[in-house]
Amino acid sequence: MGQVTLIKHPLVQHNLTRLRDRRTAPQEFRRILSEVAALIIYEATRSFAVKAVSVTTPMARARGSVLRREVILVPVLRAGLGMMDSILQLIPHARVGFIGLKREEKSLRALFYHKSLPRDLTDFEVILIDPMLATGGSAVSAMELLTELGAKQVRLVNLVAAPEGIQKVHSHFPNLPIFTAAIDQKLNRNGFIIPGLGDAGDRLFGV
Ligand code: PRP
Repeated sequence: MGQVTLIKHPLVQHNLTRLRDRRTAPQEFRRILSEVAALIIYEATRSFAVKAVSVTTPMARARGSVLRREVILVPVLRAGLGMMDSILQLIPHARVGFIGLKREEKSLRALFYHKSLPRDLTDFEVILIDPMLATGGSAVSAMELLTELGAKQVRLVNLVAAPEGIQKVHSHFPNLPIFTAAIDQKLNRNGFIIPGLGDAGDRLFGV
């Protein structure tokens, strides 16, 4: 079984609970999802590779460290967009790629409708961003694309995961680290996470 980091920080769980609440309207949902994303990304980037450098302060030389690799954020449209604002504030130098995937309602298969990524991801720290991991079909398709482009260091930043989705992702990509605020009970027959928070894209954008 691959690595799953469950983020139990009280602020994360507080915000997650507000997001689960059906009474939370899109305006509030957007704000809270963005806030919680900052806390999750803090944990998800803890193991970024760094390299030692020296720097001259106004007073003397000092030893320091900088990120070893360039960072690219890859939100899965649409719901991944809801986590982007705060993450970009924390990593303003990151590049941003996009993957458009839509889950077919009946078959639950994830179909690509947009891809916008650099041709070679070999030297990047890639952060794949999708708040919902249900069947895992979208994450597996996104990972297949990232892998085709040479990505070697990828993390999945997620908010709510179903056990079925984690299992599927790790059966295809056993070494993919997943960061999430919740591992929920199960999927229902329509592929929705129970208890979950509903359709994150719809709740974000009201459509
Ligand atoms: C939802 C969700 C994830 C995906 C998860 O997106 O936001 O991207 O489904 O499901 P899976 O793990 O079973 O693939 P959806 O396809 O509904 O698109 P949207 O974000 O535009 O609403």
